[in-house]
Amino acid sequence: MSSPLSPLPASSAVIETEGLTKDYGQVLALDSLDVRVGAGVTGLVGANGAGKSTLIKILLGLLDPTAGNARVLGHDIATDGAQIRALVGYMPEHECLPPDVSASDFVVHMAQMSGLPHAAARERAADVLRHVGLAEERYRPMGGYSTGMKQRAKLAQALAHDPRLVLLDEPTNGLDPAARDDMLELVRRIGQDFGIAVLVTSHLLGELERVSDHVVVLDGGRLLRSSATSEFLDNTGTLLVEVLGGPTERDRLGKALFDAGFACQPRGNVVAVDPPPSEESRNVHDTIRDTTVQLGLGLVRIQPDHRRIEDIFREEVAGATQPH
Ligand SMILES: Nc1ncnc2c1ncn2[C@@H]1O[C@H](COP(=O)(O)OP(=O)(O)O)[C@@H](O)[C@H]1O
Ligand SMILES: [Mg+2]
Repeated sequence: MSSPLSPLPASSAVIETEGLTKDYGQVLALDSLDVRVGAGVTGLVGANGAGKSTLIKILLGLLDPTAGNARVLGHDIATDGAQIRALVGYMPEHECLPPDVSASDFVVHMAQMSGLPHAAARERAADVLRHVGLAEERYRPMGGYSTGMKQRAKLAQALAHDPRLVLLDEPTNGLDPAARDDMLELVRRIGQDFGIAVLVTSHLLGELERVSDHVVVLDGGRLLRSSATSEFLDNTGTLLVEVLGGPTERDRLGKALFDAGFACQPRGNVVAVDPPPSEESRNVHDTIRDTTVQLGLGLVRIQPDHRRIEDIFREEVAGATQPH
């Protein structure tokens, strides 16, 4: 499977919204949202009810915003809905598969609907179904599929017409851990191997960080944060130190490093060391190494502690909801 169009330059926006607002009457689902999504894989994360699905439906022209505007691949959602849907694949959140139809017939149908002639549609369907790992089961009715297979069939239909961008709404929903990993790997490959831009949502805040180049965090219809995944995972300054042995060895090291002037805490089988910010990192490493030698302990590793998106989300939500 390959995209006939060259990948978008990293600088051009795939999605851009300005003051995008959706008021359902009872609920303000999107609150004047300004967000910009580039090429690559972007994770759109936020708790249930944050407005992720509403945003996706508005971008596809399936729902009208109350106010504001948006462009998708350069097209205005207010006027170019049909062009946008021709260029964009959509994997909806909820089940949408006819149970009596095989995945093959379904994806062929979806490809034909978007303008491919029958023979090309069949070829394309075989390609995308192989890509998502449904080559063997593709002639069976989808009603008998497992949740994981259904999610993969939904993903295949989103890719049927060779889109430039796919919007994947909670593709890991309902999957067990192994199937979840498989799905995330497929998402990563769509972005990296095929150069298709991906916007993928999850209410599980931590799970997209390893497949996303960029993460957008929504909270209550507002943009909480948008940044490169690498910035999210900035070093905290904390070092995790592991030595051979058990809790006794761990605590001996912790006490000695504390005596050397570092704040220390046991964390699982490692010691989390917080050197004073003024201390040079080379000195810190030297002190840790020398201390383990003096204690006769076997040093296994010293590694920087990366924050996880989940931690940052909690901190920023707590900050945002603090009374002013
Ligand atoms: N059709 C609708 N009518 C009224 N309220 C809705 C409708 N769809 C969604 N909502 C509400 O809008 C908010 C955002 O929902 P949604 O976009 O589905 O969030 P998410 O996908 O992040 O879970 C929620 O409070 C939800 O209950
Ligand atoms: Mg949703």
